[in-house]
This record gives sequence, C-alpha cells and structure tokens, in this order.
Amino acid sequence: MTDSGETGRTATDAVHLDGITKRFPGVVANDDVDLQVERGSVHALLGENGAGKTTLMNVLYGLYEPDEGRVVVDGTPRDFDSPRDAIDAGVGMIHQHFMLVDPMTVTENITLGNEPERWLGLSIDRERAREEVVDLSERYGFDVDPDARIEDVGVGVQQRVEILKALYRGADVLILDEPTAVLTPQEVRELFGVFEELTAQGKTIIFITHKLREAMTAADDITVLRAGKTVGTLGAADASRERLAELMVGREILLDVDRPAADPGETVLDVRDLTVEDTRGVRAVDDVSLSVREGEVFGIAGVDGNGQAELVEAIAGLREVDGGAISLGGWDATDASRRDRIDAGMAYVPEDRQESGLVMDFDLVSNGLLGSQHARPFAENGRIDWDAAREHAEEIVAEYDVRPANVDARAASLSGGNQQKFVVGREFARDPRLVVASHPTRGVDVGSTEFIHDRINDLRSDGRAVLLVSSKLDEVQSLSDRLAVIYEGSFVDVVDPDAVTEEQLGLLMAGEQPDADVSVGEVSQ
Ligand SMILES: Nc1ncnc2c1ncn2[C@@H]1O[C@H](COP(=O)(O)OP(=O)(O)O)[C@@H](O)[C@H]1O
Ligand SMILES: [Mg+2]
Repeated sequence: MTDSGETGRTATDAVHLDGITKRFPGVVANDDVDLQVERGSVHALLGENGAGKTTLMNVLYGLYEPDEGRVVVDGTPRDFDSPRDAIDAGVGMIHQHFMLVDPMTVTENITLGNEPERWLGLSIDRERAREEVVDLSERYGFDVDPDARIEDVGVGVQQRVEILKALYRGADVLILDEPTAVLTPQEVRELFGVFEELTAQGKTIIFITHKLREAMTAADDITVLRAGKTVGTLGAADASRERLAELMVGREILLDVDRPAADPGETVLDVRDLTVEDTRGVRAVDDVSLSVREGEVFGIAGVDGNGQAELVEAIAGLREVDGGAISLGGWDATDASRRDRIDAGMAYVPEDRQESGLVMDFDLVSNGLLGSQHARPFAENGRIDWDAAREHAEEIVAEYDVRPANVDARAASLSGGNQQKFVVGREFARDPRLVVASHPTRGVDVGSTEFIHDRINDLRSDGRAVLLVSSKLDEVQSLSDRLAVIYEGSFVDVVDPDAVTEEQLGLLMAGEQPDADVSVGEVSQ
C-alpha cells in the first residue's frame, strides 16, 4: 500500500465518496456517508441488512443520483447519470443477482453490447471476441471455457463471467454486492484469490458483505455502515471480529456461545427413505432418512437448491411425498395435514416467510395467531379471543425486538428481517415438540441472529427436537449436534459438527469426498 504523502490522500484514492446522502420516501438510506478506497486495494463495505451498502454502491455506479455529496473517481468529481457513465469512468458493478443471458455463451455474454465488429460494423467478429475473452481470462488467471453456455455452468463460473464482463468494458474499480452469498467455501476462497490477482494488477475492489470473517480475510480495509451512516474505517489487520460486530450493531456482541453437551431423549421425528419430487416432477429428495431426538439439533448443510427446501416442505406437510414415511413421535404423519402436524407439536419456520410464514395483508395480531386460530388459549367454541391474540403478538414483538413495535402494522409493512423475527418468535412460542427451521436467520441482522441462536439453544436444553436447515456454515456448525450434508437430493454424509472443518464441509457440499474420514456414520441414532 502506498502512502501518498505530499499529494494528499484523495489524489491517489481510486474512489472517494464524500458526504453522500441518499433519501428514499421515508428513509435516509445513506446519511452523509464517507468512503475512501485506495487504489489497488480490496475494500470491504460491511454492515447489517438495511445499513445502506447497496444504495451507496448504486450511487457510485450511477444508478442513483445522490441528494447530497460528491462522487470522486480517480481524483475527478463525477456526475454519473447512468451506469454507462460509471463504466466509462472505469467503474463496474456485479450485482447480487447476475444479469447474464442463459442460452448465450460465456464469450457472447462478456462481449455483449461491445462486440468487436467486422465489415464496418455489419457483423460481429466472433473469432476476435473469443480471442479477447481468452486473453482476458488468462491475464487474470481465470479458468473459464469461452464456449460454454451460461445455463450449463455453475454460479461460481457465472460470477467470474460477470467479473470478466466488467473488465472487458474497462473497469478499474470493481464493485461486488454480497458476492459470496451464493458460493461454497472453496469458491469463496477462489474468489478471494481472484481479488488478489486483480489488485496485483492495479485493479481496485469494493465488496459488500455482512460477514465479519470475510471482511477480515479478504479486505485490506473495512468500512462499516450502520443505519445509513459511516461508523468507521479500519485496516483489516487492526480489526477483530468483536470490534467489527460492535461497530455494526452498536453494542457488544458475544460471538461464541458455550453450550453443554447434548443429552438426547426419545426420537421425535423419524424420516425413512423419503423421496420427493419438485414442482417440475424432478426427483428433488432421493431416499433420505434421518431422525431427530428430544434435546438435539439435527442440522442439514448444503448449497441452496440441493433438495433441502423440498425435504423440509415434505416434513412440514406442504409438499406431497412420493415414497417413504414420516413419523412424529411414533405417529404416522406421512400424509397428514399441516394442521394435524401443528397439533402434534410441530413448529415450522419456513424458508420463504412471504409464501408460507405470514399473511402479508394481515396485521401482526392476526399473523401471531396463524396455526393456533383453532386452539386454546386463543379460541374457544369457535370464538377468537382477540385480547389474548393481541397480548401474544405484543409478547413476540417485545421478545424478538420486532420493529416497528406496532402489532397493528400489516406484515407487508415490515422489513424482511423483522418479518423473519416475528415468524421465528411465533413458531418458537408454540411450545413445540419439534421445530423445523429453514434458514431461521436469513435476512436478519447480527444482533437478532445472536438472539435467535440463543433461543434455538434454549429449545434444545428444554428437550425439544430441532431440525435446522441453513446455508450458513457457521450457523449449522455451531448449533447442531449432528450435521448432515445434502447434495443433489441425498445425504452425502453425517458428520460431527465440532470435528469437521469448514474446508471438509465445503467439499462435501460440492459433492466431493474430503481426504479425511469425517463421517459419524449413521443418519439415525
Ligand atoms: N429503491 C428503494 N426505495 C425505497 N427504499 C429503499 C430502496 N432501496 C433501499 N431502500 C431502503 O434503504 C435502506 C438501505 O437499504 P440497502 O442499501 O439495500 O441496505 P443494505 O444493502 O445495506 O442491506 C433500507 O431501509 C431499505 O429499505
Ligand atoms: Mg444490499
């Protein structure tokens, strides 16, 4: 890293966002934010959900015009009207959702809109386009097949194509919005290797994350945003997870929970040889067996889309089973209704809270009743006790810190993270024998994540059975007593979460076998 001394820092900074304010109706998404990014460095923009990270980068990328403040690129103040202007100034952005054209090849996607031409622009010079793509990937040490179709390559490769596309258009500054969210641990490491290669060649990287560890591993500098404001910039070498968490959340956070060894009791959930087809009739769950006992958390780790969603939906009674059996405390629930399963003691935190967790048009009082509207203490002789319902919703809101703390608000008016907290609070409050939780902390901020983790540990020590599905490795690893890895619809292994490394888990999640044997064998014990 260079210290510019006489010239002053802004002159050497690749990017300087100076006092950026961006308002949306009712929200100040960025409030006088400052960000200085040194050329040739990797800079992490760290913050909880809703902190304003994406908005800030959209300002830098010309998607939003700031209400106040200056965008300075390479020492020159800029006034971007569109991403086109940003690209012309050497700023490229890779969004959370890739914007590639599936049936087209890697080369076609990278050169799209900027194709080399032949015959005075009458046709595209495909040969040259391909060569340019090959040169570019070699230069930065990318391993991509220029002729592969996007629909045939995995997300990791698609992400590289997005990066190459930005480089092809001349980007010197690359912005990546939550680039690791869709990757396996191996792919994450490879991506960070790509960052090193790019910065070694003078490129500047800004990447958005809410993961402390990633910011510390991959970045030179870390800027933390909280509630739309810059709370500080630290060198990664001076940062600790505790310090960063405190900056993000605004209070001290305990990151590692000690918990007593499991003392499992009777089997609550028993799944035998389960086969489930997905919506298109493709076999999504293929002969899966598992059991979860009282006082035990059984975790399922996997890259999204490997059948975990269908497995959980089948167990919850939202999806038909094509073969096998599900039993709840000895009762055959294979074809039972949702309601019968709830009555038998199953609580369910769905992956998609908007689809199956909440009725968006209802207020929180009614949403707090969902699944319990037929039963005491909320209903007697077909009449709902609205005072009890209101009190119940108020308890959930208070305990789970749902904001705004207004039970008359419609579910739709809450942010995703607050919706999630409400669903988790309602389900955990059911006095369940079994909790099936699918991505319980997805979209939830660090402070509330910690709180939900504590509640899951409470359920466990309280003798409840918990089936936990998550794509967050640290989450499933720290909460589970046994951990299954699902790949293409089957369990590839069941491991001891305390003994397995993230590396080994990553290999299993990618369908490969780690060198060491990490299996604890039986799926059911
Ligand atoms: N297009 C938009 N219209 C209205 N509000 C928005 C829009 N984009 C973001 N916001 C709000 O601005 C705040 C910051 O959002 P965002 O920049 O997406 O945060 P982050 O990327 O850190 O999660 C949030 O309160 C969000 O709801
Ligand atoms: Mg964002």
